[in-house]
This record gives sequence, C-alpha cells and structure tokens, in this order.
Amino acid sequence: MFAENVYRQRRQQLKQQFDAGVLLFLGNDDSPMNYSDNTYRFRQDSTFLYYFGLQDPGLAAVIEVDDESETLFGYDFTVDDVVWMGPQPSLQERAERVGVVKCAAQSQLAPVIAKALAAGRDVHILPPYRGDHRIKAASLLHISVEAVEHYASEPFIKAVVAQRSIKSTDEIVEIETALDITHQMHTFAMQHARPGMVEREISGQMEGIAATRGAGVSFPIIFSVHGETLHNHYHGNIMRRGDIAVNDSGAESFLHYAGDITRTIPIGGQFTSRQRDIYSIVLSAQMQAIAAIRPGIPYRDVHLHAARVMAEGLKQLGLMRGDMDDAVAQGAHALFFPHGLGHMMGLDVHDMENLGENHVGYDESIQRSAQFGLKSLRLARALQPGYVLTVEPGLYFIPALIAKWEAAGKSRDFINYEKLRAFLDFGGIRIEDDVVVTANGQRVLGRPIAKTIDEVEALASGR
Ligand code: GLY
Ligand code: MN
Ligand code: MN
Repeated sequence: MFAENVYRQRRQQLKQQFDAGVLLFLGNDDSPMNYSDNTYRFRQDSTFLYYFGLQDPGLAAVIEVDDESETLFGYDFTVDDVVWMGPQPSLQERAERVGVVKCAAQSQLAPVIAKALAAGRDVHILPPYRGDHRIKAASLLHISVEAVEHYASEPFIKAVVAQRSIKSTDEIVEIETALDITHQMHTFAMQHARPGMVEREISGQMEGIAATRGAGVSFPIIFSVHGETLHNHYHGNIMRRGDIAVNDSGAESFLHYAGDITRTIPIGGQFTSRQRDIYSIVLSAQMQAIAAIRPGIPYRDVHLHAARVMAEGLKQLGLMRGDMDDAVAQGAHALFFPHGLGHMMGLDVHDMENLGENHVGYDESIQRSAQFGLKSLRLARALQPGYVLTVEPGLYFIPALIAKWEAAGKSRDFINYEKLRAFLDFGGIRIEDDVVVTANGQRVLGRPIAKTIDEVEALASGR
C-alpha cells in the first residue's frame, strides 16, 4: 500500500467537502463461487482502497464529518481462524497502517449508524453494486433493499469522483507498473499466437503472466478472432492463417491499479492487404486522437474527430460516401464504430463506473447523446491535467447490425451496402492505449507496445 499519510491526506481532502454528516464506506466481502467457502478471487472496493488502502474482506469505515473522527470496523481473527489462515495482523494494526486511530467490531457499525440517523444527521453512502451490499445498506439505514439505490448521496459521489479523477504521481507509477505487465501479456500474444492454436492457449498464458507479476487481470480478457463482437469473452475458436485476433487485455498492479490495452494481431504473421487498409485507418484515428488530447478539450470532440478520420478512410475505400462531416453528425459511421473512444482508468479499468457513468464522464456543460454509437461514449467532458483515460478507436463489420441497417434503409446516402458485402467476414480491429493528460498535452503511459503494422508483423512472424 502507499504510505500512511497518503490515505490520511485523501480523507482530509474529502472531509473538507462536507459541513456535517456521516460518510459510510462499505468494503467488499468474499463472494461465493459455488458454495460459501469456495470464493471468487477477492477484490476490494476501489473507493475503499483509495481512502483506506486495506485489501482484506469484512471491513467498513465511517468518517464523522462533525468531529472529524474516523473509525475502521472489522473483525479480529481468533486462533481458530489462524489455524486456517495463518497469523493475521490485528484490526488496530491494520487501522494504523492507513492512519486511522479508532477501530471497532463490525457489530458496532449498526448502532453507530442508528445513532446518527436518530440524531437527524445525514448518512452518505455510495451506490452499492453488489447484492450483499444492498442488503447491508438497507439494514443499516432501515430502508427497503429497493430504496437503497435512491439513497446514494450525490454530494458524496461528486466529491469522490472529483478527487479520484486527478491521478497523483504515485498513482501514475502504479498504472505504469500495471502497464509493464500488460506489455508482457501483449508481446507474448503477438509472439505466440499461431495458426491451428485455440484462443485459450494464448488468453490462459496471458492470464498467467498477470497473476505471476501482479494482482491478476484488470478485467476478463478479450482475445478473439471474432473481434467484431466488442466484448467477446469466448476463447474457444481455432485461429486460422489470415484471421485477425483482437487482444483487449490488461493487468492490475499489486495496489490494484489497472492497465487496459488493445492490439490486433495477424494470425500467421502478416496482414492481408484489406486488413492493412482497415488497420491503417484505425491507427491513424488513434494517433490523431492522442495528439488532440490536452487540458480543456471535451473528450466528445476527440471522439468525433476520431470518428471523422475513420469515416474519411472508409470513404476512400468506397465503403462510405458523401460528406463525412454530415455522415458523422448523423451517426452513420457508428455502423462501423459503435462504441465510445474511451473512458477514465485508475483503480477500476472503467474508473468509478460504479458511481454512475454520467457523474464520471459528463457534467452540467455536456449531456449524454441518445444517438447510436455516441450514446456509448463513457467520457465526454472537458479534460483536466491528471486525468488518465483510454484512447481506443475500432472498426468492426458486424453482420447482424449491417443486415438490420440495410433492411431499414438506414444511412443509405452514406453507406455503400453493395461494397460492404465483401467485408461481412472481416471481423474487427481495435487499437487502445492509456494516456495521462499533462499541463500542456498528453503522455502515452507505459513502455511502447508494438503498434505499427511493421512492428506487429515483426513480432507475429518471429522476424
Ligand atoms: N477493456 C474494455 C474496454 O476497453 O473498455
Ligand atoms: Mn480495453
Ligand atoms: Mn478500454
């Protein structure tokens, strides 16, 4: 974990945003896989990690704004526990590591919250995203499980989002540690994916690299020759010469900061000329989008810029036609690019998404669009120094979507459906890097991972 004063300062900054009330933080509990003692890999809640750093299940914390007191609630292990788990630090020792003075048994949490409620004080909670948390919050607040999500505190959400959005130098170091492992995962995949192999032979080894060098993967690996399915978690296809595999994967550092990188690999070592054409368009859009990133620019503008670059490229190939500014304004490009250009990244791969995408990616000055494609943009608001975000354009040929649009006569003026027929078996290409916004521009994080056609082919062909 970071030094104790990092957590103290973070909590101090948070407290200053409130005049009164109680801030309640629920740490995550173990989650059963198939019976209660056989659990999924434990992952602490990211906001809990951010303010309290402790990576164990069974913890909660309260900050009383009025008297500035902080209490860690948990459990002291008994000798019976130690028989199964080995020696464990006491709750007090764990509290001290993150600069918290007071601690109390988990059973004391309910009376503390009940007392605050009885005194008419506001108890602020964040939106729970796990069933057990909904039940716990309902019980603590004496409300129904259904009412819990409406109880989430907007001031609390906004204060946490404002703070976690700006990454410190220490956090950037952690993200680059995650990206160093991610570099190895991607390089391994490029060097080892071969015709005749099953996708899981590569995805499984990448997962091993993430688990060996860090805290595991930061999200379930997407590694598929069916890259046209945006989040394809099936790894059972045999890879054939001439296929392209989309590899969207990343590791977590030991402090649980994420990496999130996508590369597209030619199986057999060389892109076909058609694949080169599409790859070059996506790469150009990605590089131009990165170059456009600077403080003050709304990320929606960067998204639309990337969309225009790709639409122009598709026009040159004869797949689109007409005026590309009009095409992008009307959303015609979204047939090929149906997702957003990127999202914030930090302790979560989609950072703070549990606090509500609109709180993270939008503000009073910029509302979410309802248009297909643009509505999936997670981050639209103006960028600030210290934001870490992904830049991940892609082009996809999704047979079901093409058939639906063609049957409906959608965007006929802009899309050459005749010519598109030859691309129905193409798959998809995505290229993703992680970027920090600096005082004057941006910096791509991590050691460069092979990205140009020459670089990728060199690794994929063993040159
Ligand atoms: N890893 C999923 C994404 O890129 O958003
Ligand atoms: Mn990704
Ligand atoms: Mn991403």
